[in-house]
Amino acid sequence: AVNAVAGDAKKRQMDTFTKDENKDTPLTSYFGTKIAETDIALRAGARGPTVLEDFHNREKISHFDHERIPERVVHARGAGAFGEFKLHTPLTGLTTAKILTDTSKVTPAYVRFSTVNGSRGSADSVRDPRGFAVRLYSDEGNWDIVGNNIPVFFIQDAIKFVDLVHAVKPEPHNEIPQAQTAHDNAWDFMGLHPQTTHMQQWIMSDRAIPRSFRMMQGFGVHTFRLINEEGKSTFVKYHWSPHLGTHSLVWDEALKLAGQDPDFHRRDLWDAIEAGAYPKWELGVQIVKEEDEHKFDFDLLDATKLIPEDLVPVQNIGTLTLNRNPVDYFTEVEQVAFCTQHIVPGMDFSSDPLLAGRNFSYFDTQISRIGINFSDIPVNRPVCPFATNARDGAMNMTSKANRTAYHPNRFDALPTTAPAQGGFKSYPEVMAGIKERIHGPKFNEFVSQAQLFYNSMSAPEKKNIVSAYQFELSKCYETVVQQNAIDRINLIDHDLALQVATAFPSVKVGEAKPNHGQKSAFLSQVDGKNQIFT
Ligand code: HEM
Repeated sequence: AVNAVAGDAKKRQMDTFTKDENKDTPLTSYFGTKIAETDIALRAGARGPTVLEDFHNREKISHFDHERIPERVVHARGAGAFGEFKLHTPLTGLTTAKILTDTSKVTPAYVRFSTVNGSRGSADSVRDPRGFAVRLYSDEGNWDIVGNNIPVFFIQDAIKFVDLVHAVKPEPHNEIPQAQTAHDNAWDFMGLHPQTTHMQQWIMSDRAIPRSFRMMQGFGVHTFRLINEEGKSTFVKYHWSPHLGTHSLVWDEALKLAGQDPDFHRRDLWDAIEAGAYPKWELGVQIVKEEDEHKFDFDLLDATKLIPEDLVPVQNIGTLTLNRNPVDYFTEVEQVAFCTQHIVPGMDFSSDPLLAGRNFSYFDTQISRIGINFSDIPVNRPVCPFATNARDGAMNMTSKANRTAYHPNRFDALPTTAPAQGGFKSYPEVMAGIKERIHGPKFNEFVSQAQLFYNSMSAPEKKNIVSAYQFELSKCYETVVQQNAIDRINLIDHDLALQVATAFPSVKVGEAKPNHGQKSAFLSQVDGKNQIFT
């Protein structure tokens, strides 16, 4: 019963926008005129030319001509579902956000899973990170955690995202390949960018070929802030852990599925929900006190690093359940518009430079992908009351009844700002610095967490990583690209480089690096002992 009530807040709202056309509703023109004939166009004589006068023919074809909108510039292929989020362990004292403190509330939720590189029609089982974008329609506004199934990212600064995506998308001259890292530009980029070293390990591992969307972890990746009643800030990272466990395909299965059932993952999600086997995830948090910010050997603002769980354990605080498939793919999955900047009072951003760029980029791209009034699209609307001073713009569907759209105004009509009612305020972080193009010094270490990852793998998982490198690099035409990749692998693990290189007679493996197998630089040491922050 709880499920039904919770889902209903969003469902009721969505239902008011749902057209229920059926066989008893006569076909009409877009403006309501009943149509007697829709199979044969009006023409001058049985074998004569089609005439311009036939408004139904023109309207029908013309709408069809404009059916497509641009696909997402990344994460174009995806599947979505609705559900609910229920908090079980409140973060009392850490945040004022009700969604993280009120355990009585069941919040409507929406999730879109995706691949990153392929176009809308590409296969589901390719080697790629998976998008894991969650929207919680909270009573204080939409909260989006726009994450991936991998806890770190390729790059550290959003200004590099353009280069990254240009390198990993199909090559400009031949548009090959579709949704894979197996090509010269992708490996050229990774070879020339040490910051990709850690992420490269994750995408060469079985994590990049998940068994099912229902069996993936999700990560918010960046460090965010929670803000409490006193205005005190605490750092937080978000994790989603599937109740079904984390499982991967093996490469041979992934290859066959790409041919036999390119819709494998979206079908799996859809069928599970239709069958009532609702997938569930725990929301976990890693909490770091403000005063511990600099105690790590890596920078909390560096999205190529994770916080090892033996330093900061993950505490599970709530459960996400997906229990309802969309009614209409285009309006509810294609037109959903997530953004990292959708947060609620009691939360804030950190100064992660990747996050700052994302806060700009999503809104910006959605203006051209869907149009400036995309927040009016039912899947994007909050369920809480909302009032803005926005007006006009293409495809505006809301009539403003209160005569003004500015603040303040002579009627004192809504919307006004709400500091007293707990409106959003940015955390007043103390800032001082020279304006220049530079990163913090801890951003320059790239190998230790890649080593941590590789060393934590079992023997079969390591074997799969070797095979993945060999497969992907074998698709490169240029030896220099393969050589750069092997040089980078050699920094992570000499034996791994030797094994991968057996498939490439023309590349050379350099000497083992002195830090090989030694360093775990992210463990902070106090008095010679590993320091665990709790
Ligand atoms: C889309 C995750 C970095 C730009 C997405 C989506 C996800 C995602 C899950 C799909 C959203 C959906 O399902 O509709 C991530 C993660 C990142 C990252 C986890 C790093 C931690 C970036 C950066 C930029 C960027 C640095 C730009 C500077 C975009 C754009 C879209 C997108 C433009 C398409 C959005 C749309 O058309 O609605 N990303 N992304 N992403 N991402 Fe990212």
